[in-house]
Amino acid sequence: MKNFTYSIPTTVHFGQGQIKKLGAEIAKRSTRILMVYGGGSIKRNGVYDGAVEQLKANGIEWVELGGVEPNPRITTVRKGVELCRENKLDGVLALGGGSTIDCSKAIAAGACYDGDAWDFPSGKATPETALPIYTVLTMAATGSEMDNIAVISDMDTNEKLAFGAPACLPTVSILDPTYTCSLPASQTAAGTADIMSHTFENYFSPIEDSFLADSLAEAILKACIKYGPRALATPDDYEARANLMWCSSWAINGFLDMGKPVAWSVHAIEHELSAFYDITHGVGLAILTPNWMRYVLNEKTEHRFAAYGVNVWGLDASLPQRELAEKAIDMTREFFNSLGLPATLTEVGIDESKLELMAQKARGAGFDRTFVPLSVEDIHNILKMSL
Ligand code: NZQ
Ligand code: ZN
Repeated sequence: MKNFTYSIPTTVHFGQGQIKKLGAEIAKRSTRILMVYGGGSIKRNGVYDGAVEQLKANGIEWVELGGVEPNPRITTVRKGVELCRENKLDGVLALGGGSTIDCSKAIAAGACYDGDAWDFPSGKATPETALPIYTVLTMAATGSEMDNIAVISDMDTNEKLAFGAPACLPTVSILDPTYTCSLPASQTAAGTADIMSHTFENYFSPIEDSFLADSLAEAILKACIKYGPRALATPDDYEARANLMWCSSWAINGFLDMGKPVAWSVHAIEHELSAFYDITHGVGLAILTPNWMRYVLNEKTEHRFAAYGVNVWGLDASLPQRELAEKAIDMTREFFNSLGLPATLTEVGIDESKLELMAQKARGAGFDRTFVPLSVEDIHNILKMSL
């Protein structure tokens, strides 16, 4: 294990009815906030009403910014920054999934910054401060509720870029699993694939001596395999929703990668798919992940996929390593299929025309440090395998 510093100062109130703590939490730090949400799901499932009740009861004023897009746009971030400045707001409340939370993080940082908020994703600047960020999570997927990352898109330039800074960690997150019961099946499935992908990105690290983190990763994967199908079959199954929600946070809150180098290769490739074709993040990951696994499977890596097969899928450890590895990868694909997720790029309307360009754009310096280093040609091959 390498040295590390671990600090997650986000306060999490987890469980049914925890929104009752929201108003008092906000009132400790803010008096006038920006309330940010997406296309309206929060107005149909009670989240909006619950939040408004809390704000009123605690004398907190608010301005609203609705309409945050899945794959949130920099244009919406700019609108939010403007609203914060015009109204002298002192906090940002995100009600929604990862897109709304990411947009809120960029707004909260942008409001404290003299330049344009695109400077953060483009790498020109790193947020040093941000307004306090409060979140009420409505979708188990990205882990944005407990990490410091935001992913913002500029569709004019086909760029979808991530940035992160301690200032962007939510101050308080309300995680009420009942809020996720209204999710469409397709989003429950995509969210489960995203949680699993975060776990894979951390699990398949070049380093071998991380038994504790790897065991937790395996537990998260097993929980997704157990509860993803249950949440689909019975959308209001509290135990399933609660487990998925807590997995969402722990798959990416820094615990799984402490003490080991990780490079998010499948995510880097998926972000190009979303940047060019605006597809759902978790869907892109479900298409790419088993193909990435097949591509990086070799004599040096097969024992890692074999261990994944034995520890996560319960395969018979006495089988030959390569057979175990191949079975585990097949089972990953079959599992995503069983959730109703697409298995090919063709199914989501992506053809070969931009694959090479996307491969070139995806390949940042990080690909030298990945589980198996990948060249532009390798990434292009993985994309072609995914058609
Ligand atoms: O917009 P509304 O009306 O709220 O509907 C949303 C949206 O259409 C709907 N939804 C969310 N909660 C619901 C609900 N519908 C009914 N009931 C509910 N309870 O679901 C749709 C998708 O929502 P979105 O927020 O886009 O999904 P997700 O949480 O998957 O976020 C995806 C974004 O996060 C980024 C992705 O790239 C993508 O832009 N990521 C953020 C990360 C982070 N901050 O750490 C890491 C991830 O790897 C990821 O890249
Ligand atoms: Zn993700």
